[in-house]
Amino acid sequence: MACRGCDAPSITDNNEPVAVNSIAGRRRAAYDAHIMANISDNRRYITNFGSQRAGHVLTDILVIGSGVAGSSAAIEATKFGRVTLITKGDFQASATATAQGGVAVASAPGDSPTLHFEDTMRVGGGLNNAAAVDLLVKQGPARIETLLSWGWEADRSHGALDRGREAGHSLNRILHAAGDQTGRVLAKTLFDKVQAETRIRVFEHCFLIDLITVEGKCLGAVTYHKKYGHQLIWAKQTILASGGCGQIWRETTNPPCATADGAAVAYRAGAVLRDMEMVQFHPTTLYIAGAGRALISEAVRGEGAYLVDADGHRIMADVHPDGELAPRDIVSRAIHDHLTKTRTTCAYLDVRHIRHFGQRFPYISQLCHNFQIDPAHDLIPVRPSAHYMIGGVAVDLQGTSSLDGLLCCGEVASTGVHGANRLASNSLLEGLVFGATCGETAGNRASQKEQPARIIDLVEETPRSARTELDLPDIDNSLRSVMWRNVGIIRSEDRLDETNDILKFWAHYVLDKTLNSPAGWQTQNKLTVAIMVTKSARERDESRGVHFRSDAPTKSTGNPYHVLVSKHGSQTRVEREPL
Ligand code: SIN
Repeated sequence: MACRGCDAPSITDNNEPVAVNSIAGRRRAAYDAHIMANISDNRRYITNFGSQRAGHVLTDILVIGSGVAGSSAAIEATKFGRVTLITKGDFQASATATAQGGVAVASAPGDSPTLHFEDTMRVGGGLNNAAAVDLLVKQGPARIETLLSWGWEADRSHGALDRGREAGHSLNRILHAAGDQTGRVLAKTLFDKVQAETRIRVFEHCFLIDLITVEGKCLGAVTYHKKYGHQLIWAKQTILASGGCGQIWRETTNPPCATADGAAVAYRAGAVLRDMEMVQFHPTTLYIAGAGRALISEAVRGEGAYLVDADGHRIMADVHPDGELAPRDIVSRAIHDHLTKTRTTCAYLDVRHIRHFGQRFPYISQLCHNFQIDPAHDLIPVRPSAHYMIGGVAVDLQGTSSLDGLLCCGEVASTGVHGANRLASNSLLEGLVFGATCGETAGNRASQKEQPARIIDLVEETPRSARTELDLPDIDNSLRSVMWRNVGIIRSEDRLDETNDILKFWAHYVLDKTLNSPAGWQTQNKLTVAIMVTKSARERDESRGVHFRSDAPTKSTGNPYHVLVSKHGSQTRVEREPL
């Protein structure tokens, strides 16, 4: 088979396929693409360390990440053993805390898990794992009850839970808290719960450098702590819940911590990743030159906001019967097309007719006022931006990845719930449901192992590259620009090939370095994952869900497939897995 869009030879028919795992291995015979291309040289770890020189922590279950998925996993896992939770910043500084819209759950009168299932599948573009969606919608209501019992104060009117509307939902089912500060309230509730659990030890400001693997098994992680330096955390089971990758794109709703660490680390450790081309773009991010990008929740359109251009023309009027509440990919593309056609820089949200806007959306109102925009009188300038990584480490219904001893949940995982397009506000619910499942699975497995987690002698000494020092901010900015320009809302073969060449060139002198700070490792992780996204987007030569190729603008008529990416020695394998 010819090598498409890559820089190294394809596997020939004589090559023995490598048995990667149970997920990918099941359908190995049916693969119809085998593409090999370098992401980096054959580095297993991105930093040098030695077990003689580092501090050691022994635990039953290691959880990486303090967002909704990581916290839920840790809380559940304490029922089985000792838990260590690490997070690279403050506990409550995760992407979860920035969520506005809310938590989708089928608990309203007239709603049902069946309706929620149907909405999720309809939006998902034919790539959802129906069993995972079924689990989500059926377990969701009980998880919300548990969350309320922990003190999560969802908004109510006349005592009953208040439910908002977002795109793709056939009725109002989005719970929210403090108006548009759902995530902040949720993160605080989870923080309090974790603090109250005596069997969870939390390390904040503890950066995940790499997962430790010995003979194909994950045994914990190499970390860097602001105060304790390098530590090796040895665990019987490890749960990766480290969030997403929005910082790879110039325009993003994601907080600064979303630097793709989890996906890069899992890749280096040998796990299989799935559908990394599936990046959801949110249609409405506050667009003010020079200011940080901030989400303007879809719930605003759910309350009736119009999406207009500078002349007041409603952009969605002729595009989709659901108008402003069409699925996100359609709204994002419509804005993109309109701005290109009219050579303008942003669209606007018109909320002037919405009564009590400030009460319902206090955070967004304040944000607008900070920039002298009064939503009662002014239009709010918006543009689409990268919002959510739908792809991730391939896991099964229990959260098990292809790497023995590693489970994943939350944005870093690909459970199959979101298919090719995530239904709005399904991800906090996914974090609650699959986080708890992961915690239970890992806890069960850890308690079945009689041996405690143990220290193994390990040394990594990669010689430093002789090349010059790096200007990390320059690399970051260049990366974000090229990804936004070429691997953004609209993609095409030639742009993807060009990007692949550019990233490959950068990889030669960025990924060969042994850096010694979180900023450097983050840049290396972002570049690693940007390459995966680009190669996966190149491999999917059709348009489906959030992935739009202008050179292949329709869904393929053949069998739907996943795009898998994994590391084999010094090579990156990109391949298709039929559903
Ligand atoms: C939003 O509030 O618009 C974001 C909700 C989500 O991404 O699910």
